[in-house]
Amino acid sequence: MANTNLTSVFNNKLIWITGASSGIGEQLCYDLSKMGARLILSARRTDELERVRNACQSPETHTVLPLDMLNEADVINAADKVANELGTVDYLFNNAGITQRSLINETDADIYRKVMELNYFSQVTITRKVLPGMLARGSGHIVTTSSIAGLIGIPYRSAYCSSKHAIIGFMDSLRSEVHDKGLRVTTLCPGFVRTNIIDTARREGTAQEKVEDTVIKNGMAVDEAVAEVLEAVANEKEQVIIAKGKEGMGPIIKRLFPSVIYKMVRKMALT
Ligand SMILES: NC(=O)c1ccc[n+]([C@@H]2O[C@H](COP(=O)([O-])OP(=O)(O)OC[C@H]3O[C@@H](n4cnc5c(N)ncnc54)[C@H](OP(=O)(O)O)[C@@H]3O)[C@@H](O)[C@H]2O)c1
Repeated sequence: MANTNLTSVFNNKLIWITGASSGIGEQLCYDLSKMGARLILSARRTDELERVRNACQSPETHTVLPLDMLNEADVINAADKVANELGTVDYLFNNAGITQRSLINETDADIYRKVMELNYFSQVTITRKVLPGMLARGSGHIVTTSSIAGLIGIPYRSAYCSSKHAIIGFMDSLRSEVHDKGLRVTTLCPGFVRTNIIDTARREGTAQEKVEDTVIKNGMAVDEAVAEVLEAVANEKEQVIIAKGKEGMGPIIKRLFPSVIYKMVRKMALT
């Protein structure tokens, strides 16, 4: 379906977006609000969430719901609040995430746990919380931002790649269990997108200060990436790669010619 009328798909839908204070989540808010969706914006920084909400179309129709997804109780309480006060969401965008930049032998064990906690466990928790309502209603769509790094392991990002691989496995299992019950599951695998992801990681202590990341600086524009995301979600794609050129070909090269991709990633540098 090439010319999906996105507005007719998302208009008046209740959509919960995590990681809404920046980057891909922020852009999702702008685009979906223009299509008439009612949004729930979550992340930790309330002031940034308010800034995004106020920049959305019809701000008064959207709800800011701050939460720290590294805190399981916070996620559970937020999901209960959504269910009790706003109802069952139509779409959950599991988008909050953190990256990591350091060699394995220079990475502390607690960084592995932190990245896995946010990029995997918190998403399992929030998804399991919205699931009963969606199953009872017989509809709902879970959208998760994994990454091409969830399909191919690359240097300097061992914690990040592991977490993004793990969430793809969980979402594949979920899709197979809920499809016949009317639910849809889309996994997004973007390549490099120009966001604040590396600054966020520095702030969180999961990226070494000295590491430069020009691949992010040269990545896809966030509005372009989100346009592809919404097209894929509206068309109920199971998994979508959002990247251009050689980067976008990576997963298919890995499947057909694995030793070629391993050689390519060995040569990847962070400059
Ligand atoms: N940029 C890329 O190249 C790229 C490529 C592939 C996949 N992705 C994925 O896309 C998603 C969005 O990343 P982005 O590029 O838009 O980066 P970003 O600009 O750094 O956004 C990350 C979002 O996650 C939120 N977040 C971080 N820690 C959190 C926590 N403990 N609890 C709740 N929210 C938290 C941040 O908000 P607060 O700090 O306010 O909490 C922010 O809204 C991530 O899952 C990322 O892995 C990005």
